Amino acid sequence: MKGVVNADDLRKLAKKRLPKICYDYIEGGTDDEIGLITNEQAFRRTHIVPRYLVDVSARDQSTNLFGRSYSSPIGIAPTGSADLFRRGADLMLAEAARDANVPFIMSGASSSSIEDLAKVAPDHSWYQVYSAIDPLISEDMIKRVSDAGLKTLVFTVDVPIASNRERSIRNGWGPSQNLTWRTKFEALRHPTWMIEWLQHGTPHFDNWTRYAGPNASAKKVADFVIRQFGAPMTWKHVERYRELWKGNFVLKGIMHPDDAVRAHSLGVDGIMVSNHGARQLDHAPAPLDVLPAIRDAVGDRMTVMLDGGIRRGLHVLIALCLGAKFVFQGRPTLYGVSAGGVAGAEKALAIFRREIDISMAQIGSTKIAELGPQFLMWQNEEHLYHNRREGSGGRL
Ligand SMILES: Cc1cc2nc3c(=O)[nH]c(=O)nc-3n(C[C@H](O)[C@H](O)[C@H](O)COP(=O)(O)O)c2cc1C
Repeated sequence: MKGVVNADDLRKLAKKRLPKICYDYIEGGTDDEIGLITNEQAFRRTHIVPRYLVDVSARDQSTNLFGRSYSSPIGIAPTGSADLFRRGADLMLAEAARDANVPFIMSGASSSSIEDLAKVAPDHSWYQVYSAIDPLISEDMIKRVSDAGLKTLVFTVDVPIASNRERSIRNGWGPSQNLTWRTKFEALRHPTWMIEWLQHGTPHFDNWTRYAGPNASAKKVADFVIRQFGAPMTWKHVERYRELWKGNFVLKGIMHPDDAVRAHSLGVDGIMVSNHGARQLDHAPAPLDVLPAIRDAVGDRMTVMLDGGIRRGLHVLIALCLGAKFVFQGRPTLYGVSAGGVAGAEKALAIFRREIDISMAQIGSTKIAELGPQFLMWQNEEHLYHNRREGSGGRL
């Protein structure tokens, strides 16, 4: 992709191709969108201290996770309604992940089905489940994930109800699909997107079609899905899904050490420290800022992962130094697939891979397993002091 050097270049291309209503849906946060800044600033204010005079000529960023080796410590987070950005986007993201040997998490609000996903990338795909109001639907989905041969189930816990996304309200995005005239008119200015829409019509939620009643139209299925979201979600759901699901079980959206400890006590294998990309609670802290306390609370007893605000390879290293075993990103690959299909998603992953490689050499590390707090420095140096005091490998 010509002229694309970093993730932000992909964002600009996506912005050009997509109507405002779609771009805003990807890009936006909630309320005053403080959370987007919070996530970004957490990385900006974290310094990483280089060690020199280390032979970094051979660098290896491969990382083990849940008993298998991935080529990089970064995967693709679940993002719903992806067909709105490009038809077939879920499977394109899965294909890009498979070819790059990193994990892809299909969203519980995906456009494509679990069964089609398993045909494209059976060894690289995880599935993210939401709890539906009708419990039998979520339980059936979990069975389908298992029947399809996927090994990892992610339960997203940070959507107690739909959040206040004001960009979407202004654009007329919602269950009623009452797009404003301005929104429709603006969409006409994005012809490649418009042609796809005219060819394929309203996107489907393929996983949900069978539950919405015989011959339900795409619009009927969408209304059904929206009615099924917003079910009360409690630890009982965690217990139930743990009982049903025999593979790796991950909770996504954990932000408090006590919740992490409770998850562990219920047999959860991993958590994703996440504020849903600043799309739920606007004044939630950055996942990066709560990561050390969570990691301290659970230690190595469970797999701690993180997402939110990762735009650079160096951000990946910072999160790993702070205690994450693996990270995910959502928007960059979504920009990529929106702008350029499979090639765009592959480009996003290749950019991360290249930047991780350069950054490892820059800090004097040749292996992902070496990364830890000894490379970190806070502006107030509190952490540095902590490292020295605890003797946790601090070399400074
Ligand atoms: C357009 C969009 C749709 C999303 N849909 C889902 C979803 O269906 N399920 C979910 O658990 N998280 C969803 N997320 C959150 C992502 O999984 C992830 O937590 C977030 O994007 C990470 O932040 P980042 O975009 O800054 O990398 C979505 C995010 C975006 C941008």
